[in-house]
Amino acid sequence: MPRPGTPPIPSVKHMNTALPTTIRAVRLDRYGSPADLEQHEVAMPIPDDHQVVVRVRAAGINRGDGLAIEGVPYAARLSYGLTRPKRPVPGTDVAGTVVAVGAGVTAWRPGDPVVGWASGAFAQFAVAADDALVAPPAGLAFEEAAALPTAAVTALQALRLGGVEAGRRVLVLGASGGVGTFAVQIAKALGAEVTGVCSTRNVSLVESLGADHVIDYTAADVAALTGYDAVIDLVGTLPLVRARRLAAPGGTYVVVGGGQARSLTGMRRFAGAAMLSPFGRQRLRPLFATPKREDLAQVLELVAAGAVRPSVEAAYDLADAATAVDFVHRGKARGKVVLVA
Ligand SMILES: NC(=O)c1ccc[n+]([C@@H]2O[C@H](COP(=O)([O-])OP(=O)(O)OC[C@H]3O[C@@H](n4cnc5c(N)ncnc54)[C@H](OP(=O)(O)O)[C@@H]3O)[C@@H](O)[C@H]2O)c1
Repeated sequence: MPRPGTPPIPSVKHMNTALPTTIRAVRLDRYGSPADLEQHEVAMPIPDDHQVVVRVRAAGINRGDGLAIEGVPYAARLSYGLTRPKRPVPGTDVAGTVVAVGAGVTAWRPGDPVVGWASGAFAQFAVAADDALVAPPAGLAFEEAAALPTAAVTALQALRLGGVEAGRRVLVLGASGGVGTFAVQIAKALGAEVTGVCSTRNVSLVESLGADHVIDYTAADVAALTGYDAVIDLVGTLPLVRARRLAAPGGTYVVVGGGQARSLTGMRRFAGAAMLSPFGRQRLRPLFATPKREDLAQVLELVAAGAVRPSVEAAYDLADAATAVDFVHRGKARGKVVLVA
């Protein structure tokens, strides 16, 4: 029964409990830095016909969250909001339980556990499109599930773009980060021979993920490596004309990270890859990862089979979002960092 004084949420078909009218959320009304994030009481999100409301149990933090908070690359403000964020509550990656569904939703019911992409995930409740969610495998903790959507799907799409399959030699630059820890594990699950590149402090982490070889970039000259069928570059420190030679002739160099986000378009390295590709013996392919539910489902099958395990470095309380998002934004995370709400 609704609490006295709690108005029902309009357009909701199913609701498993009386929902509060206000919730705790992290909010930023102007572009700024992750350290500016503060917790506020905001209105409970209301689902439209094809949306659900998720009780957020954990929200994954991605490098893109910090960039959206800064409002860069600047051209992205055409969609983020020209002068201030259109969506002041950041966060996309979510794991939790459905508490309310829109009138047209048939796939989900209150009480269903879900993982996927939402709007305003850095909050106690978030709204998500009904087709942006997947059921997590039994036994997967919410903190682990929330680590998956953007990072694991980016890793899968990068490996696919690189033509990675059984027997191929794959080099992952940035193997210890959010995307890299998934790229190593998924490439191994596909049967590839995997070399991960990271710094000294992360060598044992990357080994523990199953990498066949680990190279410490503080001790070895990464630019001198060569002969890989696919290179997944999550870092972007080497100039492309030099970097492409890490791949064998006929191999593919996938540009994922290092897009100089604090610029007008953030596209220089990606555009450079597309332009340079025809003028050499290695393919250069920019990745623009997309949140595809089918790809998340594919990763979850690997998780259920025990082939992939999210590597969660830390879970912070929602109240500590500024510290957590700022930490990820600095680019030194080991695996994933999540918020628990
Ligand atoms: N193109 C797309 O669609 C797409 C999608 C998602 C993400 N991205 C981008 O992909 C990049 C990686 O994302 P992420 O979430 O994995 O980032 P992340 O979690 O911040 O990665 C951090 C890791 O990078 C390692 N690292 C830093 N410099 C390195 C170097 N020179 N060589 C090797 N490793 C290095 C760090 O290890 P140490 O501390 O030991 O150095 C740290 O473990 C980001 O730039 C992100 O914006 C692109």
